Amino acid sequence: MTALVEVRDLKMHFPIHTGLLRRQTGAVKAVDGISFDIREGETLGLVGESGCGKSTAGRAILRLYDITEGEIVIDGREIGSVTQASLRKVRPTMQMVFQDPQASLNPRMTVASIISEPLDEHTSMSRAEKRERVYDLMDKVGLNRRFANRYPHEFSGGQRQRIGIARALALNPKFIVCDEPIAALDVSIQAQVVNLLEELQDELGLTYLFISHDLSMVRHIADRVAVMYLGKVVELASRDDLYARPQHPYTEALLSAVPEPDPAQAERQGSRIVLQGDVPSPANPPEGCNFCTRCPKVMDVCRRVDPAFREVAPEQWVACHLHDPEHAPAGAP
Ligand SMILES: Nc1ncnc2c1ncn2[C@@H]1O[C@H](COP(=O)(O)OP(=O)(O)O)[C@@H](O)[C@H]1O
Ligand SMILES: [Mg+2]
Repeated sequence: MTALVEVRDLKMHFPIHTGLLRRQTGAVKAVDGISFDIREGETLGLVGESGCGKSTAGRAILRLYDITEGEIVIDGREIGSVTQASLRKVRPTMQMVFQDPQASLNPRMTVASIISEPLDEHTSMSRAEKRERVYDLMDKVGLNRRFANRYPHEFSGGQRQRIGIARALALNPKFIVCDEPIAALDVSIQAQVVNLLEELQDELGLTYLFISHDLSMVRHIADRVAVMYLGKVVELASRDDLYARPQHPYTEALLSAVPEPDPAQAERQGSRIVLQGDVPSPANPPEGCNFCTRCPKVMDVCRRVDPAFREVAPEQWVACHLHDPEHAPAGAP
């Protein structure tokens, strides 16, 4: 399968300015060198605790930021280093669905004008054509056309997220970053929105980066999963391999906290791994491996050398010295 999105050594550092002269005295290394491909038509899950850099990664890949370093190729075009002005042509290809539909929709605009805004900006459609397109999009996401002239506050959270999805679809994108799209919704309607996203993916051949801190949700929706910790991807594997055979101690710890519905699997999973200490600040990450301060399997080398991201099994990538032939203890992991 070919990659629609290629991310290489992507870094997004936010400068920290202090003092009277507001000199730059440091940087928040929110995303600190991540690499992966997203294949055409797949869903890549991006998981990790709050603050580990998932949203920043998603926004950086869509070039909502001027990135610090790295390459981003989307649909054959390098967009990492191009100017915001020249991104205009590529913008329709890539869209974002946000966590909080309340905050991401303009309260003073009607549903129709919210959904057609991208059409105003990027197409020369007539008013009638735009109206047809808006109705068509409302049908696609399960919103009644009769509500086209209502305002966001007149809808429930789930319906508002459908408005956000319709807007994201307006320009026929190929790639959508879904940033915790259901985290702000009632549990009872989360499944409906996830099902809608899955149906739209099948129907329109969409490729998703699906960001979530909810590992059960990601297990349901993702084909492959990338696990982030403190600005880095520590493990990347197919969904089945990752959940059945996690290779990184951080992935093991995250998964041990997820309730396992299958009793046989629960037996194998063993007891819950409780991580000690807090996540270090991304403004001051530790020497060596970013996870060394909390890792239950930490070795000397981990405090000195940043482990390489390597393929330890077919299609399973891990950044951990336990899998490094040079440093792994006998019989590890
Ligand atoms: N615009 C910004 N300026 C400075 N720091 C930021 C900015 N955006 C995010 N951060 C910091 O980057 C880190 C990662 O944040 P974020 O990407 O939102 O994590 P996640 O989505 O995984 O919860 C956090 O420490 C956050 O405070
Ligand atoms: Mg986030």
